[in-house]
Amino acid sequence: MSDSTLETAWARLERLAAAPGAEEIRPLFAADPGRFAAFSQRGAGLLLDRSKTSVSPEVQAALLDLAVAADVEGKREVMASGGIANPTEGRAALHMALRSQLPGAPAECADAQATLARMREFTATVHRGEIRGATNQRFDTVLNIGIGGSDLGPVMVGRALWRAGDPMRPIHLGNVDGHGWETVLPLLDARRTLVLVASKTFTTQETMANARLVKQWMEASVGPAGASAHFAALSTNMKDTAAFGIAPDRVFPFQDWVGGRFSLWSSIGLSLALSLGWDRFQALLDGAAAMDRHFLEAPMEENLPILLALTEIWHINGLGLRRRAVLPYDERLRRLPAHLQQLEMESLGKRVTVAGMPVRRSTGAVVFGEPGTSAQHSFMQLVHQGAKPVPVDFILVAKPDHTHAENHRILLANGLAQAEALLAGRNAEEVAEDMRRAGADEATIARLVPHKVFPGDRPSVTILLPRLDPFTLGALIALYEHKVFTLGALWGINPFDQWGVELGKVLANPLVRELEAGARGPTGEGGHDASTAGLLAEVLRLQAQP
Ligand code: F6P
Repeated sequence: MSDSTLETAWARLERLAAAPGAEEIRPLFAADPGRFAAFSQRGAGLLLDRSKTSVSPEVQAALLDLAVAADVEGKREVMASGGIANPTEGRAALHMALRSQLPGAPAECADAQATLARMREFTATVHRGEIRGATNQRFDTVLNIGIGGSDLGPVMVGRALWRAGDPMRPIHLGNVDGHGWETVLPLLDARRTLVLVASKTFTTQETMANARLVKQWMEASVGPAGASAHFAALSTNMKDTAAFGIAPDRVFPFQDWVGGRFSLWSSIGLSLALSLGWDRFQALLDGAAAMDRHFLEAPMEENLPILLALTEIWHINGLGLRRRAVLPYDERLRRLPAHLQQLEMESLGKRVTVAGMPVRRSTGAVVFGEPGTSAQHSFMQLVHQGAKPVPVDFILVAKPDHTHAENHRILLANGLAQAEALLAGRNAEEVAEDMRRAGADEATIARLVPHKVFPGDRPSVTILLPRLDPFTLGALIALYEHKVFTLGALWGINPFDQWGVELGKVLANPLVRELEAGARGPTGEGGHDASTAGLLAEVLRLQAQP
């Protein structure tokens, strides 16, 4: 498609967004009693309801035209067949090949399947007690050291699926903050702990600092000769894993075409296989593969990831709503918002196109979230009555895995009610009437009505899972991954690189040296802006105090 076709599609969408009432949702329900059915689609066992948004049939048609004009399907084909989907790093993006055999994917995907087979064998051998620690004790705990994509996915899935009685206990060490290590240390018995150093590059400063710390602890606990029996690495960097002292048969590699935030399906997921058991890890992969098939095969007007992405386009580029809240109504999904923050904001926080030209429109949303109902008692006030709407993703789970039926009813009712309240609102007459019924006088009513009005017409989508299990969670994560890909295709940006994290890493190095030398006097590296220099001096002054 030509640039002018694409611009025409954007212009049509922008005209619709500028029309009076474009943000209204309630009239769309009034006009179409079948709106829920028309705007709810199913895929890979999930239901996506977009009816509580102001995407009208006309807007939907314009969005689908935009997807055609941006060649979403063509770009999807490039990704699925192993083409260069990540041109700034000259790489493919074949995370789908980690969870099923993709027709047309390059032969090297077989290496990924071979690693998967090794992971399976290693998991079984550890569980059978044939691989043990230096003191001949069975491993009962797996400590994953990693950060970003080498941490967030495993943490999120582990928190969602791990149950008492599962084969091993998963513990995660992400942040370089020594308080993190101090927090997990009491949970660990070195003799029974298997340590996975998870780092694609094996050069990430925080992960390597934590790995050195844990290695010292392990050596002090089981002796320097025995410590290596407790380590494995998940990495693409065989040279540095060897230099760290990890034997080649304890390195589980993955390919450079697996991006960090798409890597939990690779060997980065080994802590999940070990802690949940292989069958449940496999079910996670199967759920993601089911969503992959849906994404690759379903027509665009029924395709969950594409529809979710198009709805976001309407909110960000049509209505100027550049923040989004994610509320899973399931405490087990409490780390999902953090995972999505990396997945979406590291992928879509871009200001130039694939061709290096400034983007003409806003790109990635600011994502934040908390599980419901806790979120209702923190930030939902702003979502209901703040000056600007904040679109919400509600994630509901029909059946719990506990027997506390009343709690689950309350949980679900609240999730449904929040979305309903955002849509319906409460106007001044309704508020006044309620107050009158409660016996308020007219002066009080006049004074308080503006504060009590809910504007309504505030958008949300709802994703409904039959229950939370490895399969549905895999499908849910893959839904968001493909949504991110689709948004990249629509905006013409590369969702698979992350150059924006580099500068801070580079600038941290001289500061580490200056903080270290500070006690002995200034290092003279300098070159900082006045604020950074002033703060550094103040930190050193405070540290020098008794
Ligand atoms: O934060 C930047 C980043 O490169 C992420 O993309 C990645 O997930 C994370 O660092 C960790 O990288 P590595 O796995 O190489 O340690």
